[in-house]
Amino acid sequence: MNNASQVQDKPLAGRIAVVTGASSGIGAASAKLLAQKGAKVAVLARRKDKLAQLVEEISAAGGTAIAIEVDVTDQESVDKAAAKVVTTFGRADLVFNNAGVMLPGAIEERKLEEWDSQIDLNVTGLMRVIHAFIPQLTQAAAEGATVDLINTSSIAGQYIYPYFAVYSATKAYVSHLTRHMRVELGAKNVRVSMIEPGIVATELQGHVTFQGAKDWLANAKETIEFLQPEDVAQVVGFLAGLPKHVNLQQVVVMPTKQGI
Ligand SMILES: NC(=O)c1ccc[n+]([C@@H]2O[C@H](COP(=O)([O-])OP(=O)(O)OC[C@H]3O[C@@H](n4cnc5c(N)ncnc54)[C@H](OP(=O)(O)O)[C@@H]3O)[C@@H](O)[C@H]2O)c1
Repeated sequence: MNNASQVQDKPLAGRIAVVTGASSGIGAASAKLLAQKGAKVAVLARRKDKLAQLVEEISAAGGTAIAIEVDVTDQESVDKAAAKVVTTFGRADLVFNNAGVMLPGAIEERKLEEWDSQIDLNVTGLMRVIHAFIPQLTQAAAEGATVDLINTSSIAGQYIYPYFAVYSATKAYVSHLTRHMRVELGAKNVRVSMIEPGIVATELQGHVTFQGAKDWLANAKETIEFLQPEDVAQVVGFLAGLPKHVNLQQVVVMPTKQGI
């Protein structure tokens, strides 16, 4: 293989990527794609068995990955993971900050636990990952590397969906945070971007307890061909593969049949 085709085939060769929420759905598909494009990938989540299986699949396909068991609701756990990435691969230059949970419900049901867990994972968990990895990203940028921090928001952060108030608010937080961080970190050559997907066929909907939302999702499944995690992974891979001076800041990716 000559150099040109190598670059085309493995555009992320030399990159060190961290993917949170990698044990299923969008994170797992993205980890596979980033590895396929040549990045060394650290896959982070709580379910060890799922991560081990993913690493095996990546290795079998000729990629390089390491599984790190992490609970992003615990700063110490995330900090340890950040240190493990450095000792295994070196400083990360790509963080896909993706772990999240969606628990829609009527506000009047007052499910404080579900509000708390969405805020703790989607907002504070996302911040814990940023807290742990920012030094690596800024160091990598200072060394001249191409550097990405890609946050997973949602179309729910923009539009109004009945009973999705708390989830949507957590994702509006992610989107607005991303815009602000771009101002600070873009100047240091760290690309900060976000993806805002519509409905994707993953385990996310499986945690929903509120009947109104279950009915809405069941109906949506009948009428809309959901995105697959691999569709969103393509977007992540595309963002990371852009030339260093180009930042595709915000990508809304929706099923064709999902208008809003
Ligand atoms: N699916 C959709 O329609 C859709 C649309 C827009 C945005 N999103 C966003 O996409 C992201 C990925 O979701 P998904 O759809 O791929 O759903 P998913 O398959 O349920 O993935 C969620 C991931 O988050 C991880 N996670 C949950 N709690 C965690 C914790 N405390 N510590 C570490 N990791 C934790 C899960 O792994 P463990 O359980 O193993 O820890 C899992 O890997 C989320 O931020 C979600 O809000 C999804």
